[in-house]
Amino acid sequence: MRVTFSRPTLNRLGAYVVFVADGGKMSESANQLNKATKGSLKRALESSGFKGAEGQTLVVLGSEGMVAKQILLLGIGKPSNVDDLAAQSLGGAIYRSLAASGQKTASVLVDMIRGVKISNAEFAANIAYGCHLRSYRFDKYKTQNKDKNKNNPSLTSLAVMSKDANGARRKFVPLRSVLDGVIFTRDLVSEPANVIYPISFVARLRSLAKLGVKIQVLDEKKMKKLGMGALLGVAQGSAHAPRMVAMQWNGAAKSEETSPIAFVGKGVTFDTGGISIKPAGGMEDMKWDMGGAGVVSGVIHALASRKAKVNAVGVVGLVENMPSSTAQRPGDVVKTMSGQTIEVINTDAEGRLVLADALWWCQKTFNPHTIIDLATLTGAIIVALGHHHAGMFSNNNKLAEQLLVAGKATGEELWRMPLGAAYDKQVGSQIADMKNVGGRDAGSITAAQILQRFIQEGVAWAHLDIAGVTWSKSDSPTVPKGGTGFGVRLLDRLVADQYESK
Ligand code: BES
Ligand code: MN
Ligand code: ZN
Repeated sequence: MRVTFSRPTLNRLGAYVVFVADGGKMSESANQLNKATKGSLKRALESSGFKGAEGQTLVVLGSEGMVAKQILLLGIGKPSNVDDLAAQSLGGAIYRSLAASGQKTASVLVDMIRGVKISNAEFAANIAYGCHLRSYRFDKYKTQNKDKNKNNPSLTSLAVMSKDANGARRKFVPLRSVLDGVIFTRDLVSEPANVIYPISFVARLRSLAKLGVKIQVLDEKKMKKLGMGALLGVAQGSAHAPRMVAMQWNGAAKSEETSPIAFVGKGVTFDTGGISIKPAGGMEDMKWDMGGAGVVSGVIHALASRKAKVNAVGVVGLVENMPSSTAQRPGDVVKTMSGQTIEVINTDAEGRLVLADALWWCQKTFNPHTIIDLATLTGAIIVALGHHHAGMFSNNNKLAEQLLVAGKATGEELWRMPLGAAYDKQVGSQIADMKNVGGRDAGSITAAQILQRFIQEGVAWAHLDIAGVTWSKSDSPTVPKGGTGFGVRLLDRLVADQYESK
């Protein structure tokens, strides 16, 4: 999607978008176009019962003599409810309504509307951001009927018109960086597992170097030397060799060289379950079991791209979980880099094994003050929270609160789950320091308890179980169905609000 900002004009081709507030009140531009169309907008409103509810849309054809072919009336709801997030949803609604309209360009007249709390520039920039987020498509493998397919969107460019076009363009700059991060993540998550496996994942991450990110890669030999028996145990059944990658963005002012905030991601490029194999139905979903690693990569992409004044490091553990004659067996005992041993009762509980070594290596190597890990870790979190919240576990109330706030602000919402000694007891093993499953009850919590055993004293830590939010089966205002990129916007906001030097 091509996005441009300019001052309002009424002589463009394509479709115009104008606002209608709650109760059917037309914006100034809407009134102008109404005159130009001899009252057809007003008539359309009256005959359709369109009341300007948030996200409601109505297309009116341009009248004879007008260059624009269509006019989209867009309901913005109560002006006092319009904030950044609502503006993004409106941008998404514009794409939803005009994608298949036959028009190539949409020109949005962003009027000053009394009661709207954000500046006109912010309104305009967030409309562009939301529209672009919604326009994402992953169709690189469609070779047939590229032009004829009626589902192919016609809309390819968005002209956002504001009296403060310069301000809008400026506000859009950091949003553009986050957008690129979200797209980077969605692309990784959408790729099939014959294309994205540990080594090809690393190849994609190399592209971050041009943004100033320092990339460090551990191969099998190095991981063996470091004693990462848990990660290597998962990887040993696959023909694809594992990798561990660190992505460092050092953007803090030199005068305040601080230890970094760290993001750690589960990167299981395909999860068959291993010898504890999964049923066939739906197994294809397990191509996105690298979603945590995808988000970590996208966040580092966003931070580096907007030159965030922060020291951050992203660590991803990349493996494929396969059954084979070399695969690990239920009952095997592995030794983690930390020295702690794990009895592998179920080879399908592999994410925690990968993270055990990734978390430990991250702490030993980078000495972070804060760690946030992300993982499509358990089916149980979907049972608990469905697809509308990610599960959040934390050893630190301040960090937990900051995450909840950032989630609300970006529409990527979290729900805090408990941790505790009683849950921790469930993962006791007879022959090793722990087993990798704690039984059916509280499956997401016992998984988190295992992770917590690999967090060192004094480190603020949060674990986000994103199994329910990484892939979406239906469209929402700014997220088309498919890979969502959930977490990139949230973590970018957390860093911007809490960890960047001013
Ligand atoms: N990758 C899965 C979790 C998952 C399930 C993610 C559905 C996304 C959608 C994870 O590795 C897994 O298999 N977990 C098991 C754990 C169990 C064996 C204790 C699960 O949730 O069933
Ligand atoms: Mn699994
Ligand atoms: Zn998994």
